[in-house]
Amino acid sequence: MKIHIKHAFCSSSESYDSSCDIQRIVAEHLAEFLPECEQDGVLEIGTGTGIFTKLLNEKCGAAVCVDIADALLAKAARQYPENLYVCGDGECLPVRGGFSLITGSSALQWFQQPEKSIPDMLKHLKKGGKFAFSVFVEGTFVEMSILNQMTGFGSVYSLPKEADFVRIFEGCGVSVNKDVKEYVLHFDSVSEFLKKQKGTGATFSGKDKPTSKTSYRKFLELYPELFGENGKVPVTYRILYITGYK
Ligand SMILES: C[S@@+](CC[C@H](N)C(=O)[O-])C[C@H]1O[C@@H](n2cnc3c(N)ncnc32)[C@H](O)[C@@H]1O
Repeated sequence: MKIHIKHAFCSSSESYDSSCDIQRIVAEHLAEFLPECEQDGVLEIGTGTGIFTKLLNEKCGAAVCVDIADALLAKAARQYPENLYVCGDGECLPVRGGFSLITGSSALQWFQQPEKSIPDMLKHLKKGGKFAFSVFVEGTFVEMSILNQMTGFGSVYSLPKEADFVRIFEGCGVSVNKDVKEYVLHFDSVSEFLKKQKGTGATFSGKDKPTSKTSYRKFLELYPELFGENGKVPVTYRILYITGYK
């Protein structure tokens, strides 16, 4: 399954930056939770092309940046050369050390075994160290989930439940704060939304089965009919911001 996720993200290296509208908004908000001064050892998980890394560097200094998708990481490395880039799995960290900050934006929902890998990840945080993550949670793409049941097109990746993620962090012996925000972005058409979604590489649903042209057409037709607002197509995203210290 990881190989599918890696492949989907690597294929998006040319389109990610022009497609990641929601990820930019989320990165900006997550950056507000970061400490305001240079940190002694920063680890970023799920760097991608560096959308959040730029903000992280400005506030906290250089970081060790880990991502499973080498093509995206190479792009970040060209833009922000001050960081150390390591291609690897955030669920089985290829780095060691007591970090004073571990962070990552829009990435942890891709973890396949968060109940094991999040406690493992937080072991790399030194005493007093801080963490800050944004995670896409259940409730995202609510419109598409409904339409998938009606048309068979548009299967949605199973996103974590916010309460499950909070419980995992609380079980790690760290102090935890949470904030959940819902965003609704409006697109000119369903095709524009689907193109942008594909452009970010977030295409792996884990339950893809071949869909017919008829179900695709039905999806394009019903989306604006059921959810359209003033000629625009709304898409809901639900984001958990989870922060705290050890
Ligand atoms: C939606 S992108 C977010 C990228 C960037 N943080 C941003 O805000 O634009 C999710 C990133 O998580 C990475 N990712 C997914 N699973 C991962 C894993 N197990 N370990 C490390 N990175 C992972 C993907 O390769 C991708 O770059």
